[in-house]
Parts: sequence; structure tokens; C-alpha cells
Amino acid sequence: MKVKVGVLSAGGDCPGINSTVHWLVYSALDKDLAPERGMMFEVLGIVDGWKGLMEVKPDNKESLKHWTLPLDKEMVRTWDRYGGTRLGTSRVNPFDPKKDRSAVVVENVEKLGLDALVVIGGFDNLGVAYKLYREGVRVVGIPKTIDRDIAGTDYTLGFDSAVNIITEDIDRLRITAGSHSRVFVVESMGRQAGWLALEAGEAAGVSIILIPEHDFLTERVIDLLQARKKSFERYSIVLVSEGAKPRGMDHVYEKRGRDGFGHHFMGGIGGFLAEEIQKHTDLEVRYVALRHLQRGGSPTAYDRRMGRKFGVAAIDMIVNEDFGRMASLRHGEMTSVPLKKALERLNLVDVERFYNTKYYRSLDRIL
Ligand code: F6P
Repeated sequence: MKVKVGVLSAGGDCPGINSTVHWLVYSALDKDLAPERGMMFEVLGIVDGWKGLMEVKPDNKESLKHWTLPLDKEMVRTWDRYGGTRLGTSRVNPFDPKKDRSAVVVENVEKLGLDALVVIGGFDNLGVAYKLYREGVRVVGIPKTIDRDIAGTDYTLGFDSAVNIITEDIDRLRITAGSHSRVFVVESMGRQAGWLALEAGEAAGVSIILIPEHDFLTERVIDLLQARKKSFERYSIVLVSEGAKPRGMDHVYEKRGRDGFGHHFMGGIGGFLAEEIQKHTDLEVRYVALRHLQRGGSPTAYDRRMGRKFGVAAIDMIVNEDFGRMASLRHGEMTSVPLKKALERLNLVDVERFYNTKYYRSLDRIL
């Protein structure tokens, strides 16, 4: 039996996606496994995520060339070591209530002859995958987001690389902050979940971590900074998630508008907080938003390995006909969970278990 698998990446890019595609193709095209599986695979990459599936005209050669990419081992051989996504991605929602194009997607999946579709996406795009599954598309999901906010898995691709980048960047900032005796406010990503700030903050040993799950008091941040100054600490670093906000206030958004899933464009809280600290103290304050730098560069060893596990798992799931499910890491073991279950809620920081609401940092008690 010949099985044609489509694979696409949707939503924000991140390190680890290319590794996933590399290993998915290597596993799918492994001739030794074909007899045991009772099937042979063909893999078709879809360019630019859902946009590709919405725009492609399967009967038109030029269009096919533009929006799809037949994948073989030679093509993806070196992909595992590169960040971003070689397939391209987009943030478009086929189920956008303003213009629902999901029927076109379903039709194109059929016209392209795809027996299964692997979707590498975050919460929103795995949500699209689940809706398509309900429309009859045989989907398999792979969790990907530097925010690590998808429930049903202990890991999402890109998180480890982003934590490493933030840690390295803070190491750099610490040198200049220390030289000038300054306060640096560093804004990380993390729309609703504070995992990135919390874990990178732990790794970098920053003074104050602010996360979306706990609204902070600006006065308290200032008090903590003043206390550090009084005890002759030369500098302080405040790491704030883009989704964090002061108690009693709305989110701060620098950029107007919303994406195809109705989300505000994030970013701005770091600048706001830096200004507040500057206004109310004689501390010298600087502000850096790491923004998309956090998602750039090559994947860490861990993300390459997780890409391998997720990519191989996706093919195993197709062989086992585990459709409508997401590959998942649970307690160090690979498994799969129904997309419906994985998407019931977001995986947010449990403040009671992990966060010190008095000193705005990781909880000091572990056991
Ligand atoms: O959803 C993952 C994420 O990295 C968020 O942390 C961030 O708000 C968003 O992507 C940024 O998206 P874009 O690349 O579209 O600006």
C-alpha cells in the first residue's frame, strides 16, 4: 500500500521544525521498515502552512511547484541542523469567521491525494488541525511553540532553544549592566504562559521574573530594586514576559491590530515598566525586547533530538492509524494524546507550585 503524507508548519517558526521534517522523511522513506509496516510512503511538503493549502491549485503545474515540495532524503539531508522552517509558515486561519476557507483546504487535501496530514503547530494551529479532523481529514499533530503552553505534552519544539538564547543574551546584558550599575528590563516572549521567562530567568539567575499568570505591582518591583541597590548589588535584571501586566491594568500593546486568530500583537510591557521604574527612582534603567531573536538561530541538541522523536512518532502514528491525535512527551516517554484533550486548556505556570509572589522569582522551595 502506498501512503501519501502531507506535512506543513503553521504559526510562528522556531528551531526544531526542520529537524522534525528531516526525521519524518527519513522514517517514512526507510525501506527496511516497509515490509513490517505493510506500507510505503511518499512525503509532500506544503509551503507556507495553511496558506499553501488554501492557495494551491492542484491541477496547475506551476501552482503545485510554488506551493508544494516533494520531500526525499537528499532534499532534507541537512535540514536537522537549521532553525526556522524550510517549508515556510504563515499565521492564517482557514476557519477565520470573517472569511472561512476551510472547505478549500479539505478539497485541496483530497485533490493532492493526501492520505494523512502532519501539522506542526502551536495551540491555534493544532486547533485548526482538530477542526479539519472533524471534517474528515486524517491529521496528526506535532506540538511546536517556544511558549511551551500546550497541555497534553511536557515539551513543545523550540522551547529549549529559546531558553538558551534568552540565557545567553542576559549573560551579555549582565556585563554591560554591571559595568554601568544599571537596571535592565528584558522582555521575553510568552503570550499567556510564563514558562520561557521563568526557566530562562532561573538559568540566567535574574533578580526579578514577571509572568502573565501573576499580575505584578509596579511599586513592589521598584521596592525590590531599591532594596538591591541598598544592599550594594551593582545591577539588576528584570525579565518580563510579553504577556505579563501590572495589577489592575490592561495589557500594554505597542503595535495595534490582531492576527488571523484574533490575538493582539504582543510586546510593549518591558518598555512601559522601564519607564515607570525610571520615573519613580534615581536608578539608571535600560530596556531590551528580545522579540524574534528568541526564535532565531539553530536548534539546540535537545530540540534536534525532540524533532527526531516527534518526526518519527508522526509516521508511527500514521502506521497505527492514530489520527486526530498529537505526538506528546510524557515523563520522558513518547506517546500520543487526542487533540481534543490536548486543546481543552493551555498549559500555564501553576503559580502556587512554581512562583514566589512576594519576591517575583521562582519558588525557593523544591521538595
Ligand atoms: O506563539 C508563539 C509566539 O512566539 C508568542 O510568544 C509571540 O507572542 C508570538 O509567537 C509572536 O508571533 P509573530 O511571529 O507572529 O510576531
